[in-house]
Amino acid sequence: MAHQWNRYTVGVCYYPEHWPEEMWQEDLRRMLANGITVVRIAEFAWSLCEPREGEFTFDYFRRFLDLCGHCGMKVIFGTPTATPPAWLTHKYPEVLNSTMEGTLYRHGGRRHYNYNSPTYRRLCSRIVEKIAEAYGQHPAIVGWQIDNELNCETDEFYSQADGEAFRQYLRKKFGTLENLNRALGTTFWNQTYTDWAELDVPRLTPGTGRNPHMMVEYIRFVSESAISFCEMQAAILRRYRKPGDFITTNGLFASIDNHRMTREALDVYTHDTYPNFAYGLDNVSPEGDLRDRWAALKLIQTRSICPHFGIMEQQSGANGWVNRLEAPAPRPGQMILWGMQSVAHGADYVSFFRWRTCTMGTEIYWHGILDYDSRDNRKLAEVKRFAGMLEKLAPVCGADYTAAFAILEDYDNEWDTRLDAWHRRVYQASKDGLFEATAREHLPYDLVYIDQPDAAEKLQRYPVVVYPHPVMMDQRRADLLRAYVENGGTLLIGCRSGYKDLTGQCVMLPQPGLLQPLTATDVRDFTFTTFAEPESFATMGETRLESPVFNDILTPLEGAQVLATYGESYYKGQAALVENRLGKGRVLHWGSVFTAKNAPALLAAAGVKPLFAGIADAPWSVELALREKDGKRWLFLLNYLAAEADVTLHAPARSMETGEALSGRITLPPYGTLVVELD
Ligand code: GAL
Repeated sequence: MAHQWNRYTVGVCYYPEHWPEEMWQEDLRRMLANGITVVRIAEFAWSLCEPREGEFTFDYFRRFLDLCGHCGMKVIFGTPTATPPAWLTHKYPEVLNSTMEGTLYRHGGRRHYNYNSPTYRRLCSRIVEKIAEAYGQHPAIVGWQIDNELNCETDEFYSQADGEAFRQYLRKKFGTLENLNRALGTTFWNQTYTDWAELDVPRLTPGTGRNPHMMVEYIRFVSESAISFCEMQAAILRRYRKPGDFITTNGLFASIDNHRMTREALDVYTHDTYPNFAYGLDNVSPEGDLRDRWAALKLIQTRSICPHFGIMEQQSGANGWVNRLEAPAPRPGQMILWGMQSVAHGADYVSFFRWRTCTMGTEIYWHGILDYDSRDNRKLAEVKRFAGMLEKLAPVCGADYTAAFAILEDYDNEWDTRLDAWHRRVYQASKDGLFEATAREHLPYDLVYIDQPDAAEKLQRYPVVVYPHPVMMDQRRADLLRAYVENGGTLLIGCRSGYKDLTGQCVMLPQPGLLQPLTATDVRDFTFTTFAEPESFATMGETRLESPVFNDILTPLEGAQVLATYGESYYKGQAALVENRLGKGRVLHWGSVFTAKNAPALLAAAGVKPLFAGIADAPWSVELALREKDGKRWLFLLNYLAAEADVTLHAPARSMETGEALSGRITLPPYGTLVVELD
């Protein structure tokens, strides 16, 4: 990665334009007094730099930047392209995105533009260039944020410009209509295209029947569009920024290959995290005991994109919009807890959203550190304490996260689940099941994306990798997995593996298709579990493994060994888990999904070792994270419950906050965090 913070830094999102200018100086003073040294600004403020088409003025933010320079505040400057001005969309409605039916999204919200309109690209390039030219050398600036949350609000684009761009995309990818028709399986239901002009972004069809191969291609196209929009801006910023100033964007949203975008356009990746939606009153996040720990799913994904990342927006208050989303205030301690959750997973920069709650607009309930009255409060006190704690953690900055194993992912399979309900069902069940199991069992994992160029090299770091449902498979990926196993790795896969190619068409091979030479299994029969298998299970020795949702009925081929058999239904007694030794490694094929209950035994069968044995014991509600650098190791202990938690340190350790030597049983306060250096 081209940029890495060399010290933990606390920032805040600030909107100078939301407040009278007389307030700026005192705001900045209070921020600095409370440990905040960076502000992110301007990402929605196009009209303040170009109030009318072609009329540019840069005094406003120059005054703000000069003030920052004067008092020692650093700035991340946002490009304002997520919110085109009213004059722009009024004059050039072609820049707008539309619904699938073709109704244009109008001014009044945000992200109502499309990535492909040549007019929008021209006007965005110009404003980005003008801003970069005006402020690029300003000493207060340390970094640039491109747009804001690409693909947030919507990741579907149906404007005329998108239709045209999609046609060009398909033409470039497939070359001939013959190739395109074959790849998209258009023989089915007479969808054959005879002229490129007949192609368009997917539109409304009767019922819900849509071409699934076209849909995957469409998501790839949306990703390409977002990335090229981001690249366009990055190239401009790169020409004007000072050496050392970084370029980033904040995410993480659907239908973007964030790995590729980061590699090709950015210096570092930043993520926005709001864990309290796990307590949401309108239920936007998974429920259950783990609640706010689910935020780690995205942190793990972010770490996979960029091991040392930033949090551009870290929750600092109760959240909600006027018309949707409701979540409670963070309890005392939870802001630090969630900040430490980010840091434990690899964030070196943590910027709270936002300094003061806005008094107008849609987000009057998206509370910031300060409330409307601007008085000091417990949230500000927590920010200050957090900043102080991070200072004491200085040696940990840049340390690597240690995982017990890796889970494999790829964008093709993820995007296939968007339309394919069969695929989605197993994918989602295992994603949730593995997260819950590993959180409860203290088995932290990394994500590796097999579709990225560094996959082979990354895989070598893990003795065990789990690829829950590699439904789509190609020879290159199968070869990569084979090489990993032959070199001594253990690969564990679940049901529904290998029955599609990367277009999403089913392959006419015995399942698991191209993976059969690795698994030495044959799937001759398979089924969703139904009322006939109310509690589908398999037995592995004495262990009962639940096997819900879907069952592949496995036949072991030569050399393979059956480790578990199904316990009921017409396939009772047939293989549910099969092991094949290959080269120096092993492949385990599990015929069902991974759940919170069965995953611990399956991971153990694959050889995943407890990471904290000999280091610490903690209840499931305390997250443990291990970071390593230059032969030193640090342990993060994060208590997610409102009650005290007892943990045991098996080895001598030293508190990073107090310097105190610790060992044996210690008690974490409600929502308490502790970071220790291990001897
Ligand atoms: C983020 C966004 C911010 C703000 C916040 C609250 O998604 O980047 O600009 O809108 O959510 O909605």
